[in-house]
Amino acid sequence: MKKFSAIVIAAGRGKRMRSRTTKVLHPVAGRPMLWYMVALAGRVADARVAVVIGHQADRVREFLDQSKADFEPFDVVLQRDQFGTGHAVQQAQAVLMPNGKAASRSCLILNADTPLLSRATVQRLLARHEKEQATLTLLSTDLPEPRGYGRVVRGPNGHVLKVAEEADATRAERAIREVNAGIYVVDTSFLFKALARVSRQNAQGEYYLTDVVGLAVAEGRKVVGLKTPDSEECLGVNTREHLAVVEEAMRHRIRSRWLNAGVTMPDPRVTYIDDSVTIGMDTVLYPGVTLEGQTRIGAGCVIRSASRITNSLVGKAVTIRDSSVVENAVIEDHAVIGPFAHVRPGSVLRKRSKVGNFVEVKNTDLGAGSKANHLTYLGDTTIGKRVNIGAGTITCNYDGYKKDRTTIEDEAFIGSDTQLIAPVRVGKGAVVGAGSTIMEDVPAHALALSRTPQVTQDDWAAKRRAYQSGTSSSKQKSAPSSRGRKKAKTLDPRSGSGMTAGGSGMTERDNESC
Ligand code: UD1
Ligand code: CA
Repeated sequence: MKKFSAIVIAAGRGKRMRSRTTKVLHPVAGRPMLWYMVALAGRVADARVAVVIGHQADRVREFLDQSKADFEPFDVVLQRDQFGTGHAVQQAQAVLMPNGKAASRSCLILNADTPLLSRATVQRLLARHEKEQATLTLLSTDLPEPRGYGRVVRGPNGHVLKVAEEADATRAERAIREVNAGIYVVDTSFLFKALARVSRQNAQGEYYLTDVVGLAVAEGRKVVGLKTPDSEECLGVNTREHLAVVEEAMRHRIRSRWLNAGVTMPDPRVTYIDDSVTIGMDTVLYPGVTLEGQTRIGAGCVIRSASRITNSLVGKAVTIRDSSVVENAVIEDHAVIGPFAHVRPGSVLRKRSKVGNFVEVKNTDLGAGSKANHLTYLGDTTIGKRVNIGAGTITCNYDGYKKDRTTIEDEAFIGSDTQLIAPVRVGKGAVVGAGSTIMEDVPAHALALSRTPQVTQDDWAAKRRAYQSGTSSSKQKSAPSSRGRKKAKTLDPRSGSGMTAGGSGMTERDNESC
């Protein structure tokens, strides 16, 4: 006969969270707390696993469906009305006792709100249960502040007598510091027989699972209380304050895991790593880095302060400079990003490519060795290899109705302050002069320029200064006018016209260092 089935009870609403989201879906280090419990149940059970859901069942079921690949197979059971923890466990009877026969000798029961519980502790509990041949073994711990928990009441010889829920406890019971962690191993056949006898005659009008403890004692069966010194593991999340405490403890554990795996963090306390993230050896995470979701970071990367990387694949030896955001993107080996870069969903930055200061990239494939170093927006763009994107380039991908793509082929050179109006293609090796608005395809190896020719007037500035200071004899005479048709290229130094054209207007040549 198989040894252990498991039941995770996750149907409760979690009123004390004061949330529109059911408690078990609140994330801890990036995963809903339920995730940890279902994963743990699957790892330790050799028979069936049942997850009891109820409040916001559709959302919880959806989450379980999406995460199925992370877990051993399990059955979902619905507790339509939340009449208490005992009632919740009862709903799993059909799964754990198919045709009235127990699927396993014993059954592990896990509250779904204790995500810090470790596999090692559960395994100790299961081993103890087996060794003692107990009917029921429960996990307990001493808490200096036991409020909110059920108290473990022991007799004079130290044997467990019952669990007293706080709402029903006597003064003396409330003074007990040993609390019930909500984690039990119970003989399967006994469990469901006992649950049938549990009543709602208590302060909360609920079917308490904890009443099963007293019933086992009353039948003279063996009940064991395993007290763990690690009370942190037993923290049950009922409020947002508890959630914050559990979150911090979980993050601490995750950081230790990666520090021990060869990741450097100068200040781990302010480095945030989700449980789902993986990080390669010799990567350095500076203070204020956040790594979220399905993110994988390769070896030897440097990620500077205040950068956030979400659901992204980052290769080896990638540098991400300060205050950059990378979301749902792929960054290949040796790429350099930031500071202050935003790499948005659907982007692929290929090997040794560079995305620099104040550059935003969306749904764009930036080819190997290509660079967009300054003040640029690249949206819905395919860029070949060794392309240089000059400062201030913008792909105009949206016409107010739909988005179009821009394609820039290998080794093309886009001068600074260029707008590329999509859909448009710049051919291989082509050059686009700075300050151009490109609306038509540029053939390979061509030059495309679209800007007004430059006007240069000798001594214009000197004349203007003279006019301003009143020393010019020409003050009374008519100054050369830019408006005069015959002197179309003459700008009037008195009017200041032309001054606003300022700036150095880099040429494509000036831009070669970009
Ligand atoms: C429970 C225990 C308490 C223990 C504490 C440990 C009972 C009666 N009390 O109290 O002794 O110290 O856990 O954290 O068991 N649930 C359902 N259906 C329901 C009610 C609850 O599935 O009808 C689930 C919840 O989703 C949750 C778990 O059971 O995962 C515990 O429920 P909760 O209300 O948090 O119980 P506590 O008051 O913490
Ligand atoms: Ca609880």
